[in-house]
Amino acid sequence: MNKLIVSLLLTLGITGVAHAAGDATAGQTKAAVCGACHGPDGNSPAPNFPKLAGQGEKYLKKQMHDIKDGKRTVLEMTGMLTNLTDQDLDDIAAYFASQTGSVGAADKALVERGEALFRGGNLEKGLPACTGCHSPDGSGNAAAGFPHLGGQHAQYIAKQLTDFRKEDPKVGRSNDGDAMTMRTIARKLSDEDIAAVSSYIQGLHK
Ligand code: HEC
Ligand code: HEC
Repeated sequence: MNKLIVSLLLTLGITGVAHAAGDATAGQTKAAVCGACHGPDGNSPAPNFPKLAGQGEKYLKKQMHDIKDGKRTVLEMTGMLTNLTDQDLDDIAAYFASQTGSVGAADKALVERGEALFRGGNLEKGLPACTGCHSPDGSGNAAAGFPHLGGQHAQYIAKQLTDFRKEDPKVGRSNDGDAMTMRTIARKLSDEDIAAVSSYIQGLHK
């Protein structure tokens, strides 16, 4: 009897989760238009278009809502999310999260500096190691909404760090919350730091 109740509760619980979460199969169809830039499976071939494959669901959802609501400006995506419902965004996030992200290569000349920064930060500048939130292999923390970075295009990563560094939210990126986590970090990075850590991230994988 107890077993039955437990299994019933489990079934109900699982059904509840399945209902609230996105449907990756439905998401694939809804994401067809996104493939033109991000790649059909989310592995964008162009260095200025971010890869979405294997990115955490929670992070993807937050970015889509931020872009839709104008909290993050992506001119290339103007109007594209306007007619999508919350369920559509959930489904699209589930689809891209279920795909496997491809990995690029780091520039050998930049690896040492990039790795030191990513793994150790910079004590003098009060810069934390990126691994603390984005994990040692760059896979992030999906549950916390810390994005997966490993294998991402260096050009895209460098643009984000440069945008987080900008003081004017109208031209920069300022959707990292009231704690300003990434803006604070990016403002401690020099151009050389950004080039090195972005190249390192492009080749980083499990
Ligand atoms: C015309 C090209 C284009 C199309 C089509 C497009 N995007 Fe984008 N998207 C971009 C660019 C460019 C960026 C990054 C802008 C920047 O540098 O900040 C981006 C960023 C994103 C991000 C943030 C990624 C991250 O790592 O933070 C998400 C999520 C996203 N797009 C989802 C979508 C979805 C969903 C669709 C389809 C409904 C779509 N995009 C269609 C060009 C496009
Ligand atoms: C305390 C946690 C924390 C640390 C440490 C941290 N990050 Fe982040 N990072 C975040 C969070 C949270 C976001 C997502 C912000 C948002 O919601 O837009 C993010 C976003 C990013 C993005 C944008 C990803 C994308 O797909 O657009 C880049 C690039 C990035 N971080 C690089 C770094 C680098 C490089 C370091 C080390 C120098 C670092 N981060 C250290 C928490 C952290």
